[in-house]
Amino acid sequence: MAPAGNRRVQVAIIGAGPAGMFLAHLLHEARVDCVVLELRSREHVVSRVRAGVLERTTVDLMKRLGLSERVTREGLVHGGTTLAVNNDPFHVDFDELAVGAAITVYGQSEVMKDLNRAADERGIEVIYEAADVQPQGLDSDTPWVTWKSPSGLHRVDCDFVVGCDGFHGVSRGCIPREVLKIFERTYPFGWLGLLADVPPCNHELVYANHERGFALASMRSPTRSRYYLQCSLQDRVEDWSDDRFWEEFALRIGDCFAQRITRGPSFEKSIAPLRSFVCAPMCWGRLFLAGDAAHIVPPTGAKGLNLAAADVIVLADALRRFYAGGSRSGIDGYSDRALARVWKAERFSWWLTNLTHRFPHMDGFDRQMQIAELEYLRSSPAARSAFAENYVGLPLEI
Ligand code: FAD
Ligand code: DHB
Repeated sequence: MAPAGNRRVQVAIIGAGPAGMFLAHLLHEARVDCVVLELRSREHVVSRVRAGVLERTTVDLMKRLGLSERVTREGLVHGGTTLAVNNDPFHVDFDELAVGAAITVYGQSEVMKDLNRAADERGIEVIYEAADVQPQGLDSDTPWVTWKSPSGLHRVDCDFVVGCDGFHGVSRGCIPREVLKIFERTYPFGWLGLLADVPPCNHELVYANHERGFALASMRSPTRSRYYLQCSLQDRVEDWSDDRFWEEFALRIGDCFAQRITRGPSFEKSIAPLRSFVCAPMCWGRLFLAGDAAHIVPPTGAKGLNLAAADVIVLADALRRFYAGGSRSGIDGYSDRALARVWKAERFSWWLTNLTHRFPHMDGFDRQMQIAELEYLRSSPAARSAFAENYVGLPLEI
């Protein structure tokens, strides 16, 4: 079957999640012509319940791109968070790090709605339900991407392909095995998440280390709670009735917050495995990777979406400079520059996961190490400041 309707763009983006759509807007701002090819439907991408915490860099990016009207109005700005161990909570004030340091609680699906609505208004082209997307000719100066739709086989020619297609996408696999280094850690547990239209049990997030396992109280709005429980990888969502979830959550989050839980019917429940993963380099020939396509963090540090946004800020700047003056220095340095920041976020997410979760083979010594480190955070402004510096997001040096 011959490809129908060949066309040309400067950059072909694979995947319309946060990385792909932020990149499309940044390239549009830089007047670099692009198209986004997405496997799933628009409704599917928007309705996935995932991240909830935005770093300042991500909110600043939304402001810069003219996408911040709703996040400014509806996003919940938090100047601190609570950590708890053995039923005994303490507060980490981000102001200990810097006056005004904060995170913004705003759901990933809301970010996607803002990105998609503005893409419609700006004429950014996103092709949904593009099946069998195949990047090709990546080791030449004239790569192309093919895909299938009900109307046939399609092809777009381009200067660069950017793989923003998440952990299970097609792009990373295009880098030859002998070039690609993989660094990986899987964790022997998952996270069971629940959404319910009930007021949150605290005005800020609570991360609880409990003998029975980790619990996290988060939210989406003053009337919508997002709660998580560490669970076994063998568990299925059907094993967790709402009643079982509420009982376990109340135990783990601790007496002080348990009293303030409003129980109600859940309207979403899902289990996610936890993984640390980095591939290097994040480019090969005319292919660049960004976001979850190149790296995964366990969700504990709330870094995944924010890292995706940071990657594409660096990449878009490199591509803008390439098209403005033909300089290759930005695109040649992209992988090293992105990875330097990625590894710091990987470290923080790994550290916080180890500090707050129950591991199957933990002995008394391991448990005392967790307690001692959390007690050190409770008592030391220097330790809390280091936590806050990483949690609110390290600065993005371009
Ligand atoms: P994705 O969002 O995975 O997007 C990739 C896109 O590519 C998808 O739309 C997919 O359909 C598409 N695609 C895949 N394969 C193909 C193909 N072959 N062809 C075309 N398209 C394809 N991060 C935070 O920053 N803060 C948090 O608080 C946070 N909490 C989280 C909680 C949970 C429970 C989970 C699971 C994740 C959380 N994350 C968090 C992580 C965050 O959701 C991800 O890191 C983020 O979605 C990455 O964006 P991305 O665009 O790189 O990848
Ligand atoms: C949320 C998810 C996280 O992984 C986290 O650390 C904090 C909040 C959330 O979905 O609200």
